[in-house]
Amino acid sequence: MKQASLFVTFEGIDGCGKSTHVALAHRWLVQWGYNVATLREPGTTDVAEQIRRLLLDKKMKMTPVTELLLYEAARADITARQIAPLLKRNQIVLCDRYFDSTTAYQGYGRKLDIKMVKFLHSVAVGPVRPDLTLLFDVDLATAFARRGKELDRLESEPRAFFKRVRAGFLEIARRERSRVKVIDAARPIEVVFEDVKRHLKKKLAIA
Ligand code: TYD
Repeated sequence: MKQASLFVTFEGIDGCGKSTHVALAHRWLVQWGYNVATLREPGTTDVAEQIRRLLLDKKMKMTPVTELLLYEAARADITARQIAPLLKRNQIVLCDRYFDSTTAYQGYGRKLDIKMVKFLHSVAVGPVRPDLTLLFDVDLATAFARRGKELDRLESEPRAFFKRVRAGFLEIARRERSRVKVIDAARPIEVVFEDVKRHLKKKLAIA
């Protein structure tokens, strides 16, 4: 079994296709002989899955700050109890969304203060940072067409919200070019996955 401690996060608006690529990347890395763990946010641990239910339930009304704190609370749990120990054991950790989702959705989408949001990331995760973040960028029309019919609480937000979220993600990538790689996700899955593999190979130094 190959050993590599690497934390990779997959980001983008709902309907961008990131979850498909998390699954493909997991399978591909296992084929290369790596120890891989795939997690999702919000969720994975018992506590975080319960918080996820609250966050995605359309009947739950909450303020933007409550929403922000719930995402960070879920993240604190999964980071301390799963991500950090897995990385310590030299595993590759793939995470479907991480703190950039909060910056994009609660910061840019809900218009909360970005500095405050980023401060809360550090409260929630301490020194843990993704080594690589793949941002699956797609136009709103394509993303909306790909989403299922049953929309959760966040997905029920209007188009203008997702416009801000997408622009927010691109702004994050612009500010952190070495960590965040933008992938044009409007193309067919196989073509997009070639880019995913290219970025992973570079990080793992495999040919
Ligand atoms: P996701 O797992 O992508 O939803 P799905 O099960 O439909 O694929 O994410 C759940 C929702 O939570 C999604 O609309 C984005 C939102 N979200 C935030 O607003 N902030 C965050 O910090 C995270 C992690 C997710």
